[in-house]
Amino acid sequence: MSKNIIAIDGPAASGKGTLARSLAELLGFAHMDTGALYRATALEVHDAGLSAQDENDARDGAQILAKKIAHATRPSDVLDNPALRTDQIGQQASKIAAYPRVREVLNKIQTDFAENPGGGFKGAVLDGRDIGTVITPNAPLKLYITASREVRAKRRLKELQSRGISATYEAVLKDMRERDTRDAERKTAPMKPADDAIVIDSSDLDASQMLEKAVSLAKERLTL
Ligand code: CDP
Repeated sequence: MSKNIIAIDGPAASGKGTLARSLAELLGFAHMDTGALYRATALEVHDAGLSAQDENDARDGAQILAKKIAHATRPSDVLDNPALRTDQIGQQASKIAAYPRVREVLNKIQTDFAENPGGGFKGAVLDGRDIGTVITPNAPLKLYITASREVRAKRRLKELQSRGISATYEAVLKDMRERDTRDAERKTAPMKPADDAIVIDSSDLDASQMLEKAVSLAKERLTL
């Protein structure tokens, strides 16, 4: 496995995605938003007329996605899809993410990417819920990004509005509470910091302060 792997985990709208993207760009690393795999699976399940209540149906959805990614030049060609960003898809994603058979299919895509990000990249940044605990347990740098639920709900509301999706603060907060509980309490790969993760509370930090912290940690721990 490539040594230059940065694992970033945390709950919804904690700032992990923004950090992962900018960190990858700055270091010349590839980036995978692993939440998009769960979101895209939820969309495949829906589009194929399968049932998200049935584990085997959901696994079939993950396999349809895996085939599309295998045929694409880069996973992001399939995953950069604005239709994945709604709260409805987020909720469906967190339901199917509790199924071990879905996780098995999606884990393979993530470990393959971490081992071989391709494209001449010097390393990989993956963000999600179980990257430091399950996908890349040997990553030399693991970050767990948190923020209060209220701060996260405000950020998500702003993000949805900037995409032209209408939502209310109360609805976003409720969605976040449900998803946090489901993600943290599921049996398989629950959302939690790895024992050796560095926990950063982003409530009072802006994106550039977060990036600065992460870059200095990367310089200490990785071969750049
Ligand atoms: O963007 P946001 O943080 O709201 O969510 P996301 O990262 O797109 O993830 C959507 C859902 O996928 C989460 O609520 C989790 O249930 C699931 N997920 C997971 O189980 N494991 C991951 N590594 C990433 C996401």
